[in-house]
Amino acid sequence: MSRKIITGGTVVTADGSYEADILIEDEKVVAVGRNLPHDDAETVDASGKLVMPGFIDGHTHMDMPFGGTMTADDWATGTAAALAGGTTTIVDFSLQDVEGTLAGAIETWHGKAAGKALIDYGFHVAITNLTEEIKAEIPSLAERGVSSIKIFMAYKGTPLYTEDDDLFEAMQIAKEAGVLVMVHAENGDVIAKLQEQALARGDTAPKFHALTRPEEVEAEATNRAIQLAEVAEAPLLVVHVSCAAALEPIHRAHELGQTVYAETCPQYFVFSVADLAKDGFEGAKYVCSPPLREKWNREPLWRGLQIGDLHIFGSDHCSFNYEGQKELGADDFTKIPNGCPGAEERAMTLWTHGVGRGKVSENQFVALLSTNQAKVHGVYPRKGALIPGADADIVLWDPALETTASVANRHGNVDYTPYEGMSFTGGPSEVYVRGNLAYKNGEIIAEHGSGRFIERKFDHPTI
Ligand code: URP
Ligand code: ZN
Ligand code: ZN
Repeated sequence: MSRKIITGGTVVTADGSYEADILIEDEKVVAVGRNLPHDDAETVDASGKLVMPGFIDGHTHMDMPFGGTMTADDWATGTAAALAGGTTTIVDFSLQDVEGTLAGAIETWHGKAAGKALIDYGFHVAITNLTEEIKAEIPSLAERGVSSIKIFMAYKGTPLYTEDDDLFEAMQIAKEAGVLVMVHAENGDVIAKLQEQALARGDTAPKFHALTRPEEVEAEATNRAIQLAEVAEAPLLVVHVSCAAALEPIHRAHELGQTVYAETCPQYFVFSVADLAKDGFEGAKYVCSPPLREKWNREPLWRGLQIGDLHIFGSDHCSFNYEGQKELGADDFTKIPNGCPGAEERAMTLWTHGVGRGKVSENQFVALLSTNQAKVHGVYPRKGALIPGADADIVLWDPALETTASVANRHGNVDYTPYEGMSFTGGPSEVYVRGNLAYKNGEIIAEHGSGRFIERKFDHPTI
């Protein structure tokens, strides 16, 4: 049996911060406290560090076909980026083949992750073709350890786009099956019309990506999804909330006692429409959906995090190279593949701009990145907690660590980073996955394939 004791640090959980040691046996935390007897255990000195449960990123797209191309990060490079940001578990979107089954999507994703993943992982299924057969298949997801599906109200003209009647019926079925419905909430019909009109005017530059996806189309779809979920009496997770207008129906739902979980992402706190309007084709590097917004939205988003309207902070890591991929839309912004890398920068962004500026506490930081993620995504308390019996997924967070992002020091496989030149204060110095040192001071130590599939079960958490 291997034994380690992490000593001398401050344990930071979602509930509080305190001085304690953590005793690990093999892959599990076995004790948390002071003066723990630890005879033969290897000592890990965490002096000056904050000791946190490993971060969970419930929103990544590794090795996924999208926008006519494949995301740039596969399971080796994508999990390296996540791990370098302190993430020990991701929940990735297995994308249904248009003619395929949900089981097929899960099998394909098992194949992609096997032998490559450096950290633990689970899968959602992203629905591309919600036929009667697929609806009938939803209840079988739970037995495959998959507890969530994503349905797209946007991307009209692609198989992802789903009509309201199908979305509503899926909510009814999912509710009975114990599966959580996640929505990409943007009004696909209105976006398609605005895009058509923009192109007809000759407005082809990246900035028109945002101008054809105004806040109202996100707010309208968010409200519609919430109302449909209320009629279906189903819990709902609204992902990648980008703006104040979309927060309003979420806040209202919470006041009325409806179960609506909500996620936001780092890009909405540090980038804006101004980045999309950068000279030449540079703006393509910032094309993601929902799009980047006017800066004034950031304060309402911070408030949403503070008061618990936004429960989780996911990366929506969906990386495409500038060369050959973003460039697909050089003459037509609708052809720029949607998505940005961010798994590596997620926690550092939240720490620097959130904790560092007094917007959220260190305990809220842990809740948003780890504990709430574990609850919403059905892996709590195995993950997201530092208690006896939990997996020993642990981040030693150095609040004084100074880093500057550059494509040269990123761990993913993308030819640019939207975070180029951005400085962070605070970052992970050591990361343990199930008791094993996986990352230290910029260096990946975990072996490819050491990440393990984690079965998830949605159990209606109250957050
Ligand atoms: O632009 C984004 N967000 N790309 C990834 C796909 C999605 O909608 O999450
Ligand atoms: Zn989406
Ligand atoms: Zn996404």
